[in-house]
Amino acid sequence: ATVQFEPFRVKTVDALGSASAERWNEAIQEAGYNPFNLRAEDILIDLLTDSGTSALSAEQWAAMMRGDESYAGSRSFYRFEKSFRDISGFEHIFPTHQGRASEHIFFTALARRSELTDLVIPNNTHFDTTRANIELSGIKAVDLLAAPGLDPALDHPFKGDMDVARLSKLLEEEGDKVPLVMLTVTNNAGGGQPVSMANIRAVSEICQQRGIPLILDACRFAENAMFIKRRERGYADRTPKEIAREMFSLADGCTISAKKDGMVNIGGILAMRDARLAEDCRNQMIASEGFPTYGGLAGYDMEALAVGLQEVLNEDYLNYRLDQAAYLGSKLEQAGIPIVRPTGGHAVFVDAGAMLPHIPPLQFPAWALSVHLYEIAGIRSCEIGSMIFAKKDAHGGELPAPYELLRLALPRRAYSRSHLDYVAEAMAYVMQNRRQVRGMAIVSQSPVLRHFTAKLAWI
Ligand code: F0G
Repeated sequence: ATVQFEPFRVKTVDALGSASAERWNEAIQEAGYNPFNLRAEDILIDLLTDSGTSALSAEQWAAMMRGDESYAGSRSFYRFEKSFRDISGFEHIFPTHQGRASEHIFFTALARRSELTDLVIPNNTHFDTTRANIELSGIKAVDLLAAPGLDPALDHPFKGDMDVARLSKLLEEEGDKVPLVMLTVTNNAGGGQPVSMANIRAVSEICQQRGIPLILDACRFAENAMFIKRRERGYADRTPKEIAREMFSLADGCTISAKKDGMVNIGGILAMRDARLAEDCRNQMIASEGFPTYGGLAGYDMEALAVGLQEVLNEDYLNYRLDQAAYLGSKLEQAGIPIVRPTGGHAVFVDAGAMLPHIPPLQFPAWALSVHLYEIAGIRSCEIGSMIFAKKDAHGGELPAPYELLRLALPRRAYSRSHLDYVAEAMAYVMQNRRQVRGMAIVSQSPVLRHFTAKLAWI
């Protein structure tokens, strides 16, 4: 057949929120022009995030009925552990309540171990909460994305790759301060772009030479594996699971938000090979997260995760998944909208800086676009730009982020093609009338992770 369709049918339905433009305009005003403050009931199509928003499968719901709620040593833990070990090969596997909990436990354990006070952790691009957790542990977070990833319009198969030369230089100059190197697959903050196996291998080799562990931020490991299958020479005939196994084999551990490719509504993973580090994490974990066989999750959550980790590697699912983003991306391009090319796995990233050149970066063009899109169409999206990633200059002023992106994130197995057509139509309308979109100013903000709580106003 030439028609492409979703590889599932709907079994349970969930009504969309408000379809009233009048309500959208009131609601965003009440929310202080911050989409994070909106109520779901006021949202027609919610593309804020692909995190925790997946539809569960019948198999996951069935497994959840088997949830073993024993405080310690539950059967559900062992089923989860077996499922993830099958994919990752890691010896020490802990469940956590979500990705940032894995990060917090890991970085706190690391910072405690080290006698140095000026540690540095490089990544292709640290996600916002990862950066925050590193910085809260008193460690410096640096981004070493290779050049192609910084150019939104450039077509390149692996725009999530790390700049290996800059990594080598950093390790040569201050290797003793680097407790680990991270790689985020796929690179969410840079457009959901994949990292090639060749790059993971090159980074892994550099790390090995210096005895520095390589830790994957592997929230979207299955999407990354599928991109490798599609785009990297030598992988076309391998299964996504085989490719995922190879990715993990090159690393010494991982932090995962299972709310993405774990296909669950809540959950995280922390895993590693090193027994001593695992011991430190276990101790840290008991104090803040929970006993290591439940880590902040119910038994039924671990059951859903055990199944989700395997389902996500299904090739029909992954083809549908990557094609869905590509479909929305191509519709936006047909309307002349600049997007990050090629489309990533979990979202379409609109280049709001290029789309709205009349709005300067520190008037938050991508934020303004997200508010405007909600006002006219009830679609919630997410800014990935200067609201999240601006830095302070030496005088306390703000330096804009390297790009101003609007992320249209796609919840897994949740929205149909006609929902995407609606989004594309709304975006095309905004494009035609883009001079009407004004800049925004911050009215109030918090010192860290300000985007979650800031209040704004139109200029
Ligand atoms: N790392 C990456 C690459 C992420 O995208 C996220 C979350 C996390 C870590 C943290 O995981 O939310 O479970 O604590 N990203 C979500 C998003 C929130 O919308 O992209 P968490």
